[in-house]
Amino acid sequence: MNTAILPGSFDPVTVGHLDIIERAAAVFDRLIVCIMVNGGKRPFFSMEERLEFLRAAISHIPNAQAVQCGGLLADFAREQGARTLVKGVRGCTDFDWEFQMAQINRGLWQELDTVFFPAQEKHLHISSTMAREMLRYRQSLDGCVPAGALAAVLKAAEGKVR
Ligand code: PNS
Repeated sequence: MNTAILPGSFDPVTVGHLDIIERAAAVFDRLIVCIMVNGGKRPFFSMEERLEFLRAAISHIPNAQAVQCGGLLADFAREQGARTLVKGVRGCTDFDWEFQMAQINRGLWQELDTVFFPAQEKHLHISSTMAREMLRYRQSLDGCVPAGALAAVLKAAEGKVR
């Protein structure tokens, strides 16, 4: 079985993430979507909330599962027997960073490779940062957060935004 891991912060999951997840699930036998810790970011939603959103967003994809992991991505991949990481890229800035991350992850486990999926043009402006900003200013998240996760995101955001 060809297993791939799609890691990220997913704070919260967006329609751009979901598009990459659906496309990767069509290529690999099994896709593990893993919420991980990005040491450079302070999350807005808790790990448990983000996992709930992600599970709701991908429930229609039979070969994809959402999990969380607080450790090193390369270790998690090895534990899962997954030799491929999937990253979505929106442009050169994303690619520059993800290219470096691919080298680092391969350095941690020589058998670990990274494949890149280009974002669709209609999703280039969509990001978790944008979704959080829309929440702060009480703007609609339609077309930004997957429909399946929308109610849970709005509920979790209550009390976090003034
Ligand atoms: O959605 P993001 O924030 O760009 O995702 C980045 C993430 C969480 C995938 C990255 O920070 C990560 O892999 N974190 C786990 C720890 C790790 O393995 N870091 C890389 C080697 S030091």
